[in-house]
Amino acid sequence: MNAPIIALDFPSMEEVSTFLSQFHNETLHVKVGMQLFYKEGPSIIEKLKEAGHWIFLDLKLHDIPNTVKEAMRSLSSLGVDMVNVHAAGGTNMMEAAIEGLELGLTGGRARPLCMAVTQLTSTSEKMLKEELLIHKEMELTVLHYAKLAKQSGLEGIVCSALEVPTMKQELKNVITVTPGIRLLGDRADDQTRIVTPAKAKQLGSDFIVVGRSITRSDNPLAAYERVVAEWQN
Ligand code: C5P
Repeated sequence: MNAPIIALDFPSMEEVSTFLSQFHNETLHVKVGMQLFYKEGPSIIEKLKEAGHWIFLDLKLHDIPNTVKEAMRSLSSLGVDMVNVHAAGGTNMMEAAIEGLELGLTGGRARPLCMAVTQLTSTSEKMLKEELLIHKEMELTVLHYAKLAKQSGLEGIVCSALEVPTMKQELKNVITVTPGIRLLGDRADDQTRIVTPAKAKQLGSDFIVVGRSITRSDNPLAAYERVVAEWQN
């Protein structure tokens, strides 16, 4: 069972260090997103790697194929464990992402896993139809993007845990990374397709991403332990 991935959505390394100091040198699965990476740059990755953490660099690339290829070449050289793109960039872009990741590898390291964001967990059915003008159901849209991602050589997708059973039924060997996780009683905030860690486990998620249920808690370590208990038992 993969450890829960903690979303380090903090403004700077200083806050990250204070947060991580509560975990008594435990090596964790962590996610670095745009907020932190754009502030601290690649040095944040070096520091987290030095401490032994497993890293998902969540920058959700979405651009023309050549730009994504070259960006992925740079990210691959940082030695992170997982990266992602938006499936909406299309198959040429996703194939270019894999090519870039392979080109950027140094020192015999394994290629980072590459995940495709299908539909953000903040996107509702209503928004899908009224703003994005996608008239298929959410689950069918997610499945279609997941198929394109697998065809393009990516290992898996980012989706809501609610969509995992269909993905597992329809696709072989798809890794599912599921944000939109909340402990019972926590606020949904900007997320719409949310579940508890226990429900994500029941639905068959491979990785859960948990941010504010842990980072905003009065006792982050206790919240993390609650997540682990639900997820791993
Ligand atoms: O605080 P919360 O648990 O909602 O954080 C979820 C994290 O997962 C955020 O860092 C967000 O950027 C990320 N994420 C997401 N939905 C996706 C992909 C990533 O919420 N589809």
